[in-house]
Amino acid sequence: MRYRRLGRTGYEVSEIGFGAWGIGKQMWVGAEDKESLRALHLAVDRGLNFIDTALAYGDGYSEKLVGRFVKERKERIFVATKVPPKNRIWPARGALSEVFPPEYIIQCAETSLRNLGVDAIDLLQLHVWDAGWIKGESWYDALRKLQDERKVSFFGISINDHDPGSALELVQSGKVDSVQVIYNIFDQSPEDQLFPLCQQKDVGVIARVPFDEGGLTGHITPETKFPKKDWRNYYFKGDRKQQVFERVEKLKGLLDGEAGTLPELALKFCLSHPAVSSVIPGMRTAAHVESNVAVSDAPALSKGMIAKLREHRWERNFYS
Ligand SMILES: NC(=O)c1ccc[n+]([C@@H]2O[C@H](COP(=O)([O-])OP(=O)(O)OC[C@H]3O[C@@H](n4cnc5c(N)ncnc54)[C@H](OP(=O)(O)O)[C@@H]3O)[C@@H](O)[C@H]2O)c1
Repeated sequence: MRYRRLGRTGYEVSEIGFGAWGIGKQMWVGAEDKESLRALHLAVDRGLNFIDTALAYGDGYSEKLVGRFVKERKERIFVATKVPPKNRIWPARGALSEVFPPEYIIQCAETSLRNLGVDAIDLLQLHVWDAGWIKGESWYDALRKLQDERKVSFFGISINDHDPGSALELVQSGKVDSVQVIYNIFDQSPEDQLFPLCQQKDVGVIARVPFDEGGLTGHITPETKFPKKDWRNYYFKGDRKQQVFERVEKLKGLLDGEAGTLPELALKFCLSHPAVSSVIPGMRTAAHVESNVAVSDAPALSKGMIAKLREHRWERNFYS
């Protein structure tokens, strides 16, 4: 496993981090705690030291499982979590005072501290961000207070789906230590402006949804059925599975000695950009951990392959 600096936090985080949404069990149907823990243990055995969770994942379930796991290990594991919007609306909607009132941010952080069973949260992220909130200071004061009390070490935001431009002013302001953003073979838009700015301001970048919620693994076909109540029935509704399938079939033509499988190609693409500190695939099984962590040790993609992947950029929003 290779490590990269998470911007000015100075944390040396593993290139492959653990996306812990699925193990929260609520919106993703099918995780089993025993297997989730097996996956986490294997990941750390292989050198992974960065986990991304959120208070909203299973209403604290993911945080509690991660907290339980971290206690069982002696390694230094960096855990990032998130404050959900008070109105529970994703992407961000409403006035800052309604979505992130300062006392609410502090209350959520206290709950996350208890769930994780730690004295300090390594990285606390606001789970949504609206560009218009830049003028407000109350969220920042609340996070600074938590930092002064040593309950939070660093803070950042998780950027709204497919909207990296909404964070530019905030990154420019120097107020955040990290951003989390959708970045994958389809959505390459963070490269346009966000990544260069993060590099300039020394802001850590956490690349999320590297597999486009599964589409880029090549396992989704027009016939794929998700379990009842699994949120991906919505994400891949209508003819979207067919659309994804057609795109992915074209990508398969690129598989060769540089990347033998689509998950490998997808993760290598994310790691090809130097602004990225860690890419966090969602993992619920040891088998997926095994193949994903191995990508960090494999040779990087060539410039030629990256140039070919540019042609597969596909901008659309399946979350809406
Ligand atoms: N707003 C936000 O802040 C936000 C939003 C979304 C995600 N996130 C973070 O980003 C993380 C990653 O995103 P995500 O989990 O939504 O989507 P993702 O990483 O793009 O895709 C997850 C899917 O990929 C599958 N998978 C993983 N490794 C695989 C492999 N080697 N081979 C085949 N399939 C594989 C998983 O399989 P299984 O179904 O078998 O588990 C799951 O279905 C989340 O866990 C969370 O930490 C944050």
